[in-house]
Amino acid sequence: MADATALAALRAAAFAALENAYAPYSKFRVGAALLTPDGEIVTGCNVENAAYPAGTCAERVAMGSAVVRGLRHFTHIVVATEAATPSSPCGICRQVLAELAPDCLVISVTRGGVEAQWRLADLLPYPFTPSSLHS
Ligand code: THU
Repeated sequence: MADATALAALRAAAFAALENAYAPYSKFRVGAALLTPDGEIVTGCNVENAAYPAGTCAERVAMGSAVVRGLRHFTHIVVATEAATPSSPCGICRQVLAELAPDCLVISVTRGGVEAQWRLADLLPYPFTPSSLHS
């Protein structure tokens, strides 16, 4: 279990990533920060596109950045937004989290200090998994 200091660093990293969000269309800036079992932090922000469906969520940008660094296991993800209430990851991000971080704790934080947290398994109870390919 990550200690309070590690989680504080993860929150700070998510808000720092949010500052680099490219969200000119929705204006909904999101930062995400993943924590590995070894205590490494990898961040992402949402990257939108004039062709709207080409945009990518902060969570998936973070996971892609981690994978390119050879990191594939995560215990926590913090999602930071400027909304009034915490928001949970979209369905596609839940599915990608299920691949790489099936047991992770998802912590959603707002600028105003409101937080919510869920186990990924509660957000996506019946994921399509690698074993689904062979069943
Ligand atoms: N977005 C994220 O980056 N993560 C979420 O958990 C929800 C939504 C982004 C996608 C888009 O750039 C903007 O927020 C509005 O949907």
